[in-house]
Amino acid sequence: MEAIRWNHDALSLLDQTRLPLEERWLPCTDYRQVVRAIRTMVVRGAPAIGVAAAYATVLAAREGAGTPDFAAFMARAREELASSRPTAVNLFWALDRMEACWRAWGPDLPRLEREAQAIHREDLEMNRAMGRFGAELVPQGARILTHCNAGALATGGYGTALGVIRAAHAQGKVAMVYADETRPLLQGARLTAYELAADHIPVTLICDDMAGALMARGQVDLVVVGCDRMAANGDFANKIGTYSLAVLARHHHIPFYTALPSSTVDLSLPDGRGIPVEERGPEEVSSFAGRRTGPAGVPVWNPSFDVTPHQLLTGIITERGVLTPPFGRGLARWFSQR
Ligand code: MRU
Repeated sequence: MEAIRWNHDALSLLDQTRLPLEERWLPCTDYRQVVRAIRTMVVRGAPAIGVAAAYATVLAAREGAGTPDFAAFMARAREELASSRPTAVNLFWALDRMEACWRAWGPDLPRLEREAQAIHREDLEMNRAMGRFGAELVPQGARILTHCNAGALATGGYGTALGVIRAAHAQGKVAMVYADETRPLLQGARLTAYELAADHIPVTLICDDMAGALMARGQVDLVVVGCDRMAANGDFANKIGTYSLAVLARHHHIPFYTALPSSTVDLSLPDGRGIPVEERGPEEVSSFAGRRTGPAGVPVWNPSFDVTPHQLLTGIITERGVLTPPFGRGLARWFSQR
């Protein structure tokens, strides 16, 4: 399964707002379309946003090559792309990497295109490596709980948390995956359940508020989730509801892991307090499937992410191996060897 295709002339994005009811691809030939696609979550998931932004930079360079001031045009395009969503650091990581290239090479389109393709390919390779390391943590007959969608749809392919699950499933270790539905936008129900079912990986869908009861019944052996931004001490932002799961897992003595590539780490932040948390519109909470479910005029709080303190992590699954506590300076050392 894949969500991002590049065919030299255009970027095609699988419209994730329509899944699982409809598989429709959105062609983008203008970087501004990609800005809108990220903002409206046609493409979502931290690494996928980074990959889409890299290709959008190539589209911008194509347009900017015909303007009198290429660098000024590209700086404006970068700013627009950077304003699309604030939390996933992969967006800024990919824009920085592409900026170093267009500043050094100018409008060398074939070279810029190869760089964006390298970002895409490397993400897929990192996910496969995480899968191999993470699968070693999964016991035989495991019942695994996951939240949101950290799969092929959220990345350059294969997935981070779902990459671990895919690799463990290939080894015959997975008895059941429990997918939290992930209110308000239902990435777990619409995307994770869809993705796992398509790959014939056993999946059971639960509402977010059922996770505690499932753990209390002894039906969860480990939890693995994705990550949108990790600070230097291991505190990390992921989809809203992740923090509650981490607390529940600790209470029930269940191992709790996050899986992330090095492009998701922000060593400029000493801890999770500095991570910008996106707040989205009230209608996502006060209505469901286009129908109002809350009374008109009642205020809504709709943070898209929460920050889980590093103390609740059993380990961090990366493309270079698994980090276990105490993380301390080890995390910065680990991730700064690029
Ligand atoms: O709002 P979304 O759907 O972009 O949020 C996605 C998540 O929170 C994922 O868990 C995270 O990006 C990791 S994806 C490999």
